[in-house]
Amino acid sequence: MVLKTMQERCSVEANTRLKSLPTYVFAWLDELKEQARSRGADLIDLGMGNPDQPMPKPIVQAIQKAFEDPSNHGYPAFKGKDSFRQAVSSWMKTRYGVEIDPKTETLCLSGSKEGLAHLTMAYIGEHDVSLVPEIYYPVHSRATWLVGGDVHHLPMKAENGFLPDLNNIPASVLEKARLLFLNYPNNPTGAVANIDFYQKAVAFCKQHNIILVSDLAYGEITYDGYVAPSIFEVPGAKDIAIEFHSFSKSFNMAGARIGFAVGNADIIQNLYALRTNVGYGTPSALQDGAVAALNNGPLYLKDIVATYKERRDVVVNGFKSLGWPAEAPKATLYVWLKVPKGFTSPEWTQHLMDTADVVVSPGHAFGTGGEGYFRVSLVSPVETLQKAIARLEANGIRYIS
Ligand SMILES: Cc1ncc(COP(=O)(O)O)c(C=O)c1O
Repeated sequence: MVLKTMQERCSVEANTRLKSLPTYVFAWLDELKEQARSRGADLIDLGMGNPDQPMPKPIVQAIQKAFEDPSNHGYPAFKGKDSFRQAVSSWMKTRYGVEIDPKTETLCLSGSKEGLAHLTMAYIGEHDVSLVPEIYYPVHSRATWLVGGDVHHLPMKAENGFLPDLNNIPASVLEKARLLFLNYPNNPTGAVANIDFYQKAVAFCKQHNIILVSDLAYGEITYDGYVAPSIFEVPGAKDIAIEFHSFSKSFNMAGARIGFAVGNADIIQNLYALRTNVGYGTPSALQDGAVAALNNGPLYLKDIVATYKERRDVVVNGFKSLGWPAEAPKATLYVWLKVPKGFTSPEWTQHLMDTADVVVSPGHAFGTGGEGYFRVSLVSPVETLQKAIARLEANGIRYIS
């Protein structure tokens, strides 16, 4: 027998849609990091948004206990356990003051990312259009491209508070538009939306018969007294909207892969119908952990948010001291900063890595609208963030307008 030392290439290619997706910038960033590490660099990685803190202990214990119960060992209920859906409904009532029917208006998800992709699969066909602000979390556009739909990117400018312009969309696009994606508090800009904007967005979606998809992954990570609203605080939003919530950032549960959708019963039903074809629901024991998180939400969030706030202040003040026009975001785990004159965002990212061994995310990773910016994540301890700022300073990094 001949032992193979090299893996053989498979000559069957991926389909055209997958092959023609734009390069995933984070894969490029991984390669840069790999190269830097192979030359011995001790990188400080402020690029990714992966929470570094542990899940609160009582949540871990609830999951452990639940896994010991054989009733949690079979396939989970597709829509989620009754106890989970009830906890979601109660959370929506106490946290946001909105009424959500646990039976028809909630759905358990294995993370909000796949829920967003599955919703797209349920509603977008070839040449249907998704409206997506031009700075976006990648799945908001990529899922549409993967199913053969078209994305129309909406202008999203700093001078408008990074809110998308819903006014100048050509009629030919509006006719084909089926989904509008909104994500506030926003990754990567840290921008927030108020109820007035949500009211306009709901009216716009009703007028044009477009589903409003609100991605509220950062709804609980807010600072300085700011409280993020749910789209369902707008009267009548339930006629046309669905909202995605995540446990990943709120409760340091990114590794548990659990989230939920709430909203219009028909939209929830179609998302559920799609999911029955491709999966089996979220492990029941993890749902018990998520119930423990929701039942004591404010208690856990207090410490988690305080930790991020302290880090945010270190990063914002640090960049200010280097000449940046930095503003403290009211929410999220990110600080969004301008690239100095003379660099594109990938060039700037590479420059920081080469000169100071500091990794940030280039703005263009979040769509063409992100060019000219870079994102710093708050997922490292204060000491590491201070070290990163000191390294930048020691290497002469300063803002040039
Ligand atoms: C805007 C946004 N939505 C959704 C997600 C996905 O979250 P989850 O871990 O629930 O899939 C993320 C993760 O970074 C995000 O930034």
